[in-house]
Amino acid sequence: MPSPSTSRRSLVTGANRGLGLEFVRQLLARGDRVIATCRQPGRAHALNQLVGEHPGRLHLLPLDVAAPKSHAELIRELPLVLGNGDGDGGGDRLDLLVNNAGVLHSGERFGKVAAETLDDSLRTNASGPFLLTQALAPWLADGGKVANLSSELGSIAGKDAFRTPSYSISKAALNMATALLARALADRGIVVLALHPGWVQTDMGGSGAEVAPQDAAAALLRVIERADAGDSGRFLDRHGMPMAW
Ligand SMILES: NC(=O)c1ccc[n+]([C@@H]2O[C@H](COP(=O)([O-])OP(=O)(O)OC[C@H]3O[C@@H](n4cnc5c(N)ncnc54)[C@H](OP(=O)(O)O)[C@@H]3O)[C@@H](O)[C@H]2O)c1
Repeated sequence: MPSPSTSRRSLVTGANRGLGLEFVRQLLARGDRVIATCRQPGRAHALNQLVGEHPGRLHLLPLDVAAPKSHAELIRELPLVLGNGDGDGGGDRLDLLVNNAGVLHSGERFGKVAAETLDDSLRTNASGPFLLTQALAPWLADGGKVANLSSELGSIAGKDAFRTPSYSISKAALNMATALLARALADRGIVVLALHPGWVQTDMGGSGAEVAPQDAAAALLRVIERADAGDSGRFLDRHGMPMAW
């Protein structure tokens, strides 16, 4: 296990359950210092237990990705948790940002799609991760990585039915945000990826889904680890294979 001064620093959004919680567990297991964020830290029981098990290596901060004001509050708190232990809180940067938080409003029908649902999906799944990455850019290490949890449902090429429109539109927008962020951060060597985890057994995916969250998170962390500058802006599945836009 790396020492605290050499360990990588990762930030995960929507870390209180599902894939986000699994990312946190596995990042801790590989020795990272982790900033886990979620909307209601006080109610994030599994995360609070992990904080107790990893003193000083896991920090829990509030973040609503859909609310830019909440991004600003997170950034105000960051120096307190990114410090390198010397007390000045400076110098340390994030090696990995996992834009994991997402929402899927099910049951939408053509003719009945509500503006609120579409707005919420866009704010949570697309503009939220885009604006958060932009706000965190000064805190990202040169050569760092940004992983955006996308979905095959955001693939325009793969669309064969009118299903989950708000989610699909927002994930397609996230894919464009990924391509744009990759260009914006290229000169700093920061790799930005859109990743499809597969159909995963979480509250969103349901218990009948194909992949365990442990396996999906492990596979995605391997893809992130292997990715280099040539992969930046790509849309990949958990095996590292390209997805159709
Ligand atoms: N599961 C799948 O089959 C699948 C497939 C493709 C892509 N994905 C993507 O993978 C990511 C994780 O999905 P999951 O399956 O773990 O979903 P999940 O079990 O429904 O968990 C979603 C997480 O996102 C958080 N979240 C939602 N809105 C938020 C907001 N405004 N601010 C902060 N956090 C917010 C939730 O927090 P609260 O507890 O506060 O609601 C929760 O922690 C998502 O981006 C999803 O679209 C999942």
